[in-house]
Amino acid sequence: MKFYIETYGCQMNIADSELVSSILMEAGHQLVSNIDEAELIIFNTCSVREHAENRVLGRIATEKYRKTINPELKIAVIGCMAQRMGKRLIENYGIDYIVGVDKYLELPELIQQEKGVKTETDNLQTYTGIMPLHQSQTCAYVTIMRGCNNFCSYCIVPYVRGRERSLPAELILEEVKRCGEMGLKDITLLGQNVNSYSYQDINFPKLLRQLNDIDSIYRIRFITSHPKDLSDELIEVMAESSKICEHIHLPLQSGDNDILAAMNRNYTIEHYLNIVDKLRKAIPDMAITTDIMTGFPGESETAFNHTLQAMQEIQFDYAFCFKYSSRENTKAAYLPDQVPEEIRLERLKRMVNLQRQISLKKYEAKIGSEVEVYVESMSKKSAHQVSGKTRDFKIAVLDGTEQDIGTLKKGIVTGSTGNTLQCVNRS
Ligand code: SAH
Ligand code: SF4
Ligand code: F3S
Repeated sequence: MKFYIETYGCQMNIADSELVSSILMEAGHQLVSNIDEAELIIFNTCSVREHAENRVLGRIATEKYRKTINPELKIAVIGCMAQRMGKRLIENYGIDYIVGVDKYLELPELIQQEKGVKTETDNLQTYTGIMPLHQSQTCAYVTIMRGCNNFCSYCIVPYVRGRERSLPAELILEEVKRCGEMGLKDITLLGQNVNSYSYQDINFPKLLRQLNDIDSIYRIRFITSHPKDLSDELIEVMAESSKICEHIHLPLQSGDNDILAAMNRNYTIEHYLNIVDKLRKAIPDMAITTDIMTGFPGESETAFNHTLQAMQEIQFDYAFCFKYSSRENTKAAYLPDQVPEEIRLERLKRMVNLQRQISLKKYEAKIGSEVEVYVESMSKKSAHQVSGKTRDFKIAVLDGTEQDIGTLKKGIVTGSTGNTLQCVNRS
């Protein structure tokens, strides 16, 4: 069967699509990049916010006409929304197959049948032994954990992805080595809370030390770090290991202690500021990015201002800003004082504006400095320029050709647009 796969949501879903591609290809099916050629269309979905679900449902509705032209065509929904909605999707949207996040190994068998739903959870499933089909030629996501145990009160992830489990360290090491040998030299380790990685006697900092010794790769990053579990040992390893990039993604969520407590985040703003301080002392030029939310139930104007103040104080390089979206069955959905939609939207705008100014300043501050760029592609704007990322996770362009893709180049930053650094080459 020719299958086409469309991915929504976080990096975990991108990695899972690579896993699913590998599972289906091993069973003899063929991945196609053109939806018109597909005999099976797979939507890998996200449930984190209502908007994410509506987007996919909209996409499914627009692609469904294909089934009237070609009655043989099958549509599968996999991922977090498949897990959450299960057979409701079949009844309401005419989907053929629904497969949850722990059941991907059963996909080849399921698609032999006319229709089917597989959404049982399996808190032990880690898909060890399957080598994902990496889609990028330069960068790789490597899953090191699945699931989440934190139950932040707004979040659907622990319900759809099940309990936290860590993959065997030796398999992670092997996979990272394999990626490097294939030319994927920029590695991002994935887990909902990588700081709680634990396999036998190997914790996350120990895993990083071992990965740093792999010759075939250039760079290591990881997402996501939870502030409650970020240890001094991790900061030490980051400072000492040449391949670990000077960048951390550390979701703040809110700058108000009462809201943080209601979110069940298990840290205070003071704790967060203390970590930022330690990171910046230990690792010069450390870039910090974050996720922040506004409109959590009970968020007053004062509480929201605490978040803006924290953003001013911390000066994040970048922030993914969200407005709270109520998710069925999560604790926050049943809290009193839900914030009206128009206030959420208005606060989100203020938050995004503030961050835009801060990011602009952060990028401009790089002008004149030397950066190392891992070249990932040709620049979209010029045939003589290539584009890639700096160690501190900023997009940069400099002169180059097709041959430079997958290599490290040095540049001096000469200008910034607020989301791209323009560089001149340095040899
Ligand atoms: N495990 C990661 C990623 C979780 S989802 C972490 O803890 O950071 C990514 C981001 O989506 C979260 O950091 C949060 O800011 C946002 N998010 C999660 N649930 C949400 C909800 N119900 N409404 C709005 N944003 C949400
Ligand atoms: Fe959701 Fe919190 Fe787990 Fe992140 S740590 S996935 S926000 S429950
Ligand atoms: Fe990721 Fe969305 Fe699932 S953020 S874990 S794809 S709910």
